[in-house]
Amino acid sequence: MNYPFWDIPHIGSGWVIGMIAIFHVMISQFAVGGGLYLPMAERKALRMKDPAVANAWQSQLVSHSKFFLVLTGVFGTVSGVGIWFAIGLTHPEATSTLIHNFVFGWAMEWVFFMIELTTIAVYYYTWNRVDPKLHLTVGWVYSIASIATLVIINGILTFMLTPGDTWIGVAGTGHEAGKFWNAFFNPTYWPSLFLRTGVCTSLAGIWALITSSRIDGDKQPALKSGMVQWSVKWLVPSFVATPFLLMWYLFMVPGTQRALLTLGIDTIAGGTFSTVTRIALIIIVTSATIVGVAYYLAYRNPVDFNLAHALSILLLALIVTGAGEYAREMLRKPFVIGRWMYSNGTRVPYVPRFNAQGYLARSMWTWDGDATAQPSSYSRGEAIFRGECGSCHTMDGYRSMRTLMAARDYAGIRNFIQMLHEDKPDSPYHRFMPPMVGTRQDMDDLANYLNAHVNTPASGPQKPLLAKK
Ligand code: HEC
Repeated sequence: MNYPFWDIPHIGSGWVIGMIAIFHVMISQFAVGGGLYLPMAERKALRMKDPAVANAWQSQLVSHSKFFLVLTGVFGTVSGVGIWFAIGLTHPEATSTLIHNFVFGWAMEWVFFMIELTTIAVYYYTWNRVDPKLHLTVGWVYSIASIATLVIINGILTFMLTPGDTWIGVAGTGHEAGKFWNAFFNPTYWPSLFLRTGVCTSLAGIWALITSSRIDGDKQPALKSGMVQWSVKWLVPSFVATPFLLMWYLFMVPGTQRALLTLGIDTIAGGTFSTVTRIALIIIVTSATIVGVAYYLAYRNPVDFNLAHALSILLLALIVTGAGEYAREMLRKPFVIGRWMYSNGTRVPYVPRFNAQGYLARSMWTWDGDATAQPSSYSRGEAIFRGECGSCHTMDGYRSMRTLMAARDYAGIRNFIQMLHEDKPDSPYHRFMPPMVGTRQDMDDLANYLNAHVNTPASGPQKPLLAKK
């Protein structure tokens, strides 16, 4: 274990990333879709024959672009930096791998971010101040830059799920960067790009419904109907294409991972849903509800469409986005980088070394770097728990050890750890948990630590959190 552990009690550090990421994805994918929506709507307005209608559309677009500027420029950027902050603390090992492999990719990404932020500000502040054609061009430049950010980040995100055989072949040799394009255009690159593009355009429609819902339907019924109905149409392409794209995507995911999904589907009659299956059902049901609400409340009755309706669609979209990102995370279990690095930062080929030398052998920072420290079994167990289990489990909250281990006494806990350590291919845990690495002593220490928490009165053990010298 090379880095200290970032301990977030109850929810776990993974959920810190999760919450920031879901919020960020809702906004950043809107930034891409909305980047297309604005110039397309502006072009539509410019071509309108009736100047009164065209002006009404335009003034509505001015206020929509202000909303867009604030939401993407402030909340999108801040949450993006937040993700870096959270992944750097939670998955330092994986973050370092991503930076080293994709230095040039990140550099390109940030160039496009700069273009995005600059052009959207210029776009908003030059409404009616420059020639309409020039203004529209600025909108298109924004649009192209934001699509470029998606095209780049998609390569890095899909790499984490399916790095591909070529990259895996050189992983750990120091020549990874030479396989940049193989890693980038990995097996799930294209289906994921199309899927996300679909999500982007529907988010453009959904967020546009928020601003259009606030147009006064009594005073400007024509404008409101036009805007609301046009925005609903942005939802259509992705809802038609998504089922097919999703199948393509899942087809490209390694079979072992996909098994997590089909396991639940095959056993539906028996009621044994796997988490991924349950999530997939949530996505399908919620998406269908969005279609219903958008059609009946917005498309059929645009004049009466109000902010509460629009917010309910947004909330449903938030659920779909959250569920989708969660399912993607679950599909990747037990890896943070497919077949190469487990979620707890252990590299697959390092397992034998940990088993021979001990998990904490090179953790220089533990016990203040004091090599002569004689930590107790409890303290060593705690450090091992944090390093090996803490990226997916907490003691008392999310995937709680106290709950999951509740039925086991010390011998039961020790046996369980032994089973995780052996990690036989037919072990039920092999699919979603990494092997427990380390020596016999490490396993005893971890068992001691867990036992002290699981089999004690509710007040918990009165031990120091991290024993010093
Ligand atoms: C990659 C993430 C991950 C890591 C790392 C991980 N687990 Fe798990 N673990 C899971 C998941 C997912 C489940 C299933 C949870 C559920 O059913 O709610 C699980 C379930 C469990 C269960 C319940 C199993 C049962 O059938 O009773 C125990 C006990 C457990 N883990 C212990 C550990 C220990 C100890 C470690 C560290 C050595 C560890 N886990 C590391 C993901 C992980």
